[in-house]
Amino acid sequence: SARVLAQTWKAVSESAAEFSTRAGKERKVAVLGAAGGIGQPLSLLMKMNPQVSQLSLYDVAGTRGVGADVSHINSRAQAKGFEGPDQLADALKGCDLVIIPAGVPRKPGMTRDDLFKINAGIVKGLVEACGKHCPGAILNIISNPVNSTVPIAAEALRKMGVYDKRKLMGVTTLDVVRAKTFYAEKLGLDVSQVDVPVVGGHAGITILPLFSQATPTMPSSTPADVIDALTKRTQDGGTEVVEAKAGKGSATLSMAYAAALFADACLRGMNGATATECTYVESEVTDLPFFATKVKLGTEGVETIHPIGSMSDYEKEAFAAMKPELAASIEKGFKFVREN
Ligand code: NAI
Repeated sequence: SARVLAQTWKAVSESAAEFSTRAGKERKVAVLGAAGGIGQPLSLLMKMNPQVSQLSLYDVAGTRGVGADVSHINSRAQAKGFEGPDQLADALKGCDLVIIPAGVPRKPGMTRDDLFKINAGIVKGLVEACGKHCPGAILNIISNPVNSTVPIAAEALRKMGVYDKRKLMGVTTLDVVRAKTFYAEKLGLDVSQVDVPVVGGHAGITILPLFSQATPTMPSSTPADVIDALTKRTQDGGTEVVEAKAGKGSATLSMAYAAALFADACLRGMNGATATECTYVESEVTDLPFFATKVKLGTEGVETIHPIGSMSDYEKEAFAAMKPELAASIEKGFKFVREN
């Protein structure tokens, strides 16, 4: 997908025939939480995506400035800031894709689940606004804990009678981005040639990188402790950044990059090209109602959900170990919507 992004941006200047057909489609995208640590660089990256024709930058505060700033960039998208709940409807009307990084990030010592109390309500409120003002849009949920906020979004939309499971996705791309970087570093590979599927969820042990399915293939001589270290570093990548930032938030720049890759894939799918990414969706791949695996994105969102594929014994154990935690996080999301 890094190659795809590079190709996309090359097309900004080169405008290949097929590309200009796709780029020619009108696509309105909104970023909710656009003034935040993720929101600002993500707004920049979406402004640079030639598939976007209109870009709504919404937040409770600070988006007049971000909107004015981003709007001066020389690219196709018309960018505009929307500030406060009174302007949310206008931000969302006609949207094809809504990306949601609104909410509080972790501080050192916090788990993603510690964010639940604040972010659950924020996500529910914003998703309900999407259900009302742009019911056909694809939603990319970034706000943590993703393992619970996606089930919250699903239930909130279901209650409104507008839920389409093909159009709701939890963004787990950063886990893939990290797994690829760490794998490439460890094996001395060119990261642009590397792929590592990451399945499960997006918190601690629920993040399961499948190095046994990596491209290029992992040498069979790779010691177990190397695989274990790569797995743990992928699972703890977020905490590595939270600790390094020492109270000033969590991953924002790498997350904006990851979210822009995923959003680009959603737009390509919507515009009739093929795109396959790992993402956390309603799924029948396991006995859990939500699970991240590779998914083919098409004109209506999720087109095909790929199975997990073959796992090593190490990965099978990790898969069994994560299931109770992921099940509990999903149930916590369902319960929140039942009670609120
Ligand atoms: P931040 O605090 O810098 O920005 C969040 C923004 O959301 C703020 O500008 C805030 O005003 C806005 N906001 C709060 N309530 C809102 C509402 N009701 N409507 C619209 N905007 C609202 O936080 P940051 O670093 O940008 O992180 C955002 C979220 O993304 C956090 O929940 C964080 O845990 C999550 N995250 C997810 C990752 C993933 O891989 N899915 C990776 C990194 C962070």
